[in-house]
Amino acid sequence: MQKVWVCGANGRVGQQIVKLLEPSYAEVFCTDKDSVDITVPEAVSGFAELNRPHYIINCAGMTDVTACEKNIEEAFKVNALGARNLSVAARKINAKLVQLSTDDVFDGEQQIPYNEFDVARPQSIYGKSKLAGENFVKELSPKHIIVRSSWIYGTGDNYVNMILKEAKEGTEIRAAVDQIASPTSALRLAEKMLELMEHAPDGLYHVTGQGYCSRYEFAKEILELAGLKAKLTPVTGKQDELTVMRPSYSVLDNLMLRMSEIECLPDWKESLKEYIQIRMQKENN
Ligand SMILES: NC(=O)c1ccc[n+]([C@@H]2O[C@H](COP(=O)([O-])OP(=O)(O)OC[C@H]3O[C@@H](n4cnc5c(N)ncnc54)[C@H](OP(=O)(O)O)[C@@H]3O)[C@@H](O)[C@H]2O)c1
Repeated sequence: MQKVWVCGANGRVGQQIVKLLEPSYAEVFCTDKDSVDITVPEAVSGFAELNRPHYIINCAGMTDVTACEKNIEEAFKVNALGARNLSVAARKINAKLVQLSTDDVFDGEQQIPYNEFDVARPQSIYGKSKLAGENFVKELSPKHIIVRSSWIYGTGDNYVNMILKEAKEGTEIRAAVDQIASPTSALRLAEKMLELMEHAPDGLYHVTGQGYCSRYEFAKEILELAGLKAKLTPVTGKQDELTVMRPSYSVLDNLMLRMSEIECLPDWKESLKEYIQIRMQKENN
């Protein structure tokens, strides 16, 4: 029976992965910063060698872009050295490592979607540290899947929940018209990550909701689907503190999925509708 270790299990994507894994895997080890700090090599290798999982899924990360700018050393420690420590451990126990990465590895200068063969040129510390993490995984872990995604929403704090909260509170919502990417459902992403982990050839895959939009269009769609009225003001990325450090255009072409004949995720609007319907049903019960 197969064993899986999820690092960063309490995070937005980690929680979703764990929910999907638990019914079908013999053992699912869930750890977070307080149980196994991925920046400590001995903690990582000790846990791996004791439990010998067949798969390690790294959902841990320092994901606050502004905090990464303010604390460069910590960002590289978690996002780069954490991935290195997991890669070394995975190699030792012959496990396959699944590493989650980001559209922030691109510079945002391109006007057509970035595919897996485009050169990554991160501008922020977050993007640089995540790219360094990817490189460690490629160099050190013989069996690996790297998944880059963007604008993930699901449980916990995320853009969709923030817009719904602000609308209900009557707060003015300011959203950038010049920040463009693909919103991605954590549930749909988690399902695809597990499919890739079990069935796909090793390598790098872009996995996002299909289609793309600006932050403004995203917010507008969220409000429409939830049937909420709010003061939604279009601004530029420079005026929007949420997006100021991010690439302005980071649409990811899911080329590797298509070439591998693996189904892409649904259109972003379809998954968003599904998410909001489920959320509203839960609220009404
Ligand atoms: N959210 C997005 O839109 C998005 C988009 C593209 C890619 N990604 C990538 O997807 C991954 C997961 O994202 P997410 O949104 O689920 O992030 P998240 O909600 O911030 O979760 C990250 C988790 O990692 C844990 N963690 C932090 N430092 C750690 C350490 N030293 N050792 C062990 N665990 C540690 C955090 O614990 P604490 O809460 O205790 O710090 C948290 O539970 C990240 O690698 C991120 O770069 C996210």
